Amino acid sequence: MTALPPRQAFPQGFLFGAATSSYQIEGHGFGGAGPTHWDTFAATPGNVKGAETGARACDHYHRWAEDLDLVAAAGFDSYRFSTSWARVLPEGRGAVNAEGLDFYDRLVDGLLERGLKPALTLYHWELPAALSDLGGWRNRDVAQWFGDFTRIIAQRLGDRLWSVAPINEPWCVGWLSHFLGLHAPGLRDIRATARAMHHLCLAHGTAIGVLRAEGVSNLGAVCNFEYALPAEDTPECHAATRRYDAIFNRFFIEAMFLGRYPEEVLEGFAPHLPKGWEQDFPTITAPLDWFGINYYTAKRIAPAPGPWPGTAERPGPLPQTALGWEICPEGLSHLLIRLRRDYTGTTPLYITENGMAAEDRLRDGRCLDADRIAYLAAHLQACRAAIAAGVPLAGYYAWSLLDNYEWAEGYSGRFGLVHVDFESLQRTPKASYHAVRKALER
Ligand code: FCB
Repeated sequence: MTALPPRQAFPQGFLFGAATSSYQIEGHGFGGAGPTHWDTFAATPGNVKGAETGARACDHYHRWAEDLDLVAAAGFDSYRFSTSWARVLPEGRGAVNAEGLDFYDRLVDGLLERGLKPALTLYHWELPAALSDLGGWRNRDVAQWFGDFTRIIAQRLGDRLWSVAPINEPWCVGWLSHFLGLHAPGLRDIRATARAMHHLCLAHGTAIGVLRAEGVSNLGAVCNFEYALPAEDTPECHAATRRYDAIFNRFFIEAMFLGRYPEEVLEGFAPHLPKGWEQDFPTITAPLDWFGINYYTAKRIAPAPGPWPGTAERPGPLPQTALGWEICPEGLSHLLIRLRRDYTGTTPLYITENGMAAEDRLRDGRCLDADRIAYLAAHLQACRAAIAAGVPLAGYYAWSLLDNYEWAEGYSGRFGLVHVDFESLQRTPKASYHAVRKALER
């Protein structure tokens, strides 16, 4: 069986962590959290497998201490988690749910007691339904609403956080949710998409400004990237790949680091962006202390008939995960080298998510997820290759600590190092968890 490269194979101080997010594990039905756009999206037929929701999820809300013990016992240095906006502000604005804020307070203390660095993401997709009613990410006011939420978190937790990123994977919040309609709020509208994507940038920059003003340090961003390749070596495929890549891989990082949007995206977005968008770049380019990369897969791109962007995905030749995502570790080293060269320079980079879904089952109380060990090993080797090529990569977070609510896939996409029985909620560390523990020994 493949072994994971040990801690000693990475530079001194390289950080290892496990990642989760609030709606996917906590149990949003507990503790006075307000309704979110995910609850209503899931309640609409055809959006989520089995119409499942995060109402109970892993019940991390009550079992957090046991879960943090698992993080610590694996030898991780850090834990990446998120705060639910609707748990803290059930209406999105106004009255704070004290119970919700207390929960995150206990969680952060629990991390510090276990010697773990708390790496917070402020928003991982559970927009309060009351704000969705007002247009959600399409409404420019969302940047201020998000700034106000950020201030509440900063004032309560800011003195004990190790790092903060405002928004997880803005591409998913913008494009996947407003153009492809596959995530909440499930729109398929280019104008909604252009405005949501711009407001995501503005909200990101606004939150960074609030955090700095509140004295919180070590601030970054977390974006997702795919290794985009032409399905065939034709000029049409290359052109389609450039458009796909500009939307997926360049839009947000280019805005944050270079203060502009890619030409290839403006071809489609220009008529739909809100008036005066160019004037927001001073806010959007607020300096960052680090940049986080979520990486899972490669995509083969071909042209498609119809309006902009005219791209289609084709199946590729490499082995796939249980969700049909091609496994392509070299895409990770390629992206790291490219992003450092084109955007981030000397800014420290982190892999903030990486992992795979498998149809994991318990047999005699054990889960032998050899495929996941091989996946993690190959991607950690890709990290080492990038470091050897001069990329200032400073850490790696595995997605995910626990099997959890995989959004539109419901509970079917198991990504955990720890198996969760969604009936009994019992946690069972998989073989991959034990492999990680061995690799992280000092
Ligand atoms: C990422 C999300 C995370 C999880 C993984 C599999 O896009 O950030 O919540 O769903 O994919």
